[in-house]
Amino acid sequence: MDHAATTPLHPEVLEAMLPYFGLNFGNPSSLHSYGRRARQAITEARDQIAVLLGCSPKQLVFTSGGTESDNLAILGSLDAVNPHGKSHMITTQIEHQAVLSACGHLESRGYEVTYLPVDSYGRVSTRDLLAALRPTTALVSVMYGNNEVGTIQPIDEIGAICREHDILLHVDAVQALGIIPMNLSVLPVDLVSFSAHKINGPKGCGLLYYANGIPLNPQLYGGNQERSKRAGTENVAAIVGFAKAIQLATDSQVVKQQHIAELRELFVTSLISEIGKDGFEINGHPEHYLPHILNLSFTGLDKAILLMKLDLVGIAASAGSACTSGALEDSHVLIAMGHSSDHVKSSIRFSFGYETTEEIVLDVTQKIGTIVRRLRKTN
Ligand SMILES: Cc1ncc(COP(=O)(O)O)c(C=O)c1O
Repeated sequence: MDHAATTPLHPEVLEAMLPYFGLNFGNPSSLHSYGRRARQAITEARDQIAVLLGCSPKQLVFTSGGTESDNLAILGSLDAVNPHGKSHMITTQIEHQAVLSACGHLESRGYEVTYLPVDSYGRVSTRDLLAALRPTTALVSVMYGNNEVGTIQPIDEIGAICREHDILLHVDAVQALGIIPMNLSVLPVDLVSFSAHKINGPKGCGLLYYANGIPLNPQLYGGNQERSKRAGTENVAAIVGFAKAIQLATDSQVVKQQHIAELRELFVTSLISEIGKDGFEINGHPEHYLPHILNLSFTGLDKAILLMKLDLVGIAASAGSACTSGALEDSHVLIAMGHSSDHVKSSIRFSFGYETTEEIVLDVTQKIGTIVRRLRKTN
């Protein structure tokens, strides 16, 4: 129930990766046959991903994950345009820490950042975006789908505004990949971040798409790997695994999306039959949402106690982003959505993956029902 934090490696991904931990262990920059085999594997992975995402292989940079892709997109593009007097960027209050912390770092270096508010469903308004634009605005960074509540942003409309005003658009699509069909040839975006471990690929591997001609300064200094955009010996096995994971996610996208949407519905109806429709509230947009994420508030109960009780019966859920859930801080996303402190303190995220079944959902909701009823009785 915590696939938005990470997912298990798909057996076919592991199989594709194994040779690159064995005989094909070469450094892709080496000129001998070991190196050439590793280089070939990266080239094939990049070509395959480019076809699946609808872009050119030259527009893809492999990174160490979603966090690095977000940092490279934001810091790298602003570093490149700043000499031209562009020192302002716009993002949202509900971004992942990878974006928010990069923006905080920019502010400490004298850049100005506007954090757009969201409505009670977690959506930004294009009116607010238009009002925030300045002559010095260089970049807009908006996530595709939120990792805590699943709300999907109007990327097409935001992209159209950015194009019209000649401003770069970065999109964190880490949670959207494999759920929303991704055709970069038609999406009005300039930079897009992806991560392998959210789609049954390996941890520590990400991807940044950058459109032709986008100014992008590297953020690591070293060799000239990744066309000098990202120095360091490539993680060959992980890159091969990432390509396999994207292929599997894309092949089954329609079926997976439908299956997960059905599981989400089953989860809700089954929980209603356990604790009634007033027993919990759904956080997020009723229409524009990533179906694998279901954020629920159990008013009157404490999320830390709930999570502990769930863990005791074998249910792994989360209080929000994996990066902050360890500390069980109140969710900045739910706060930005305008929820009360009690509401925020009782909210839990459940998230599904390809190996989640109806039986699991029914078992989980029945256990939640038992726990919630017991806690409410003793409260
Ligand atoms: C929306 C979003 N962006 C970025 C990241 C960071 O990705 P990674 O764990 O690969 O660094 C995550 C992971 O939780 C995420 O959900």
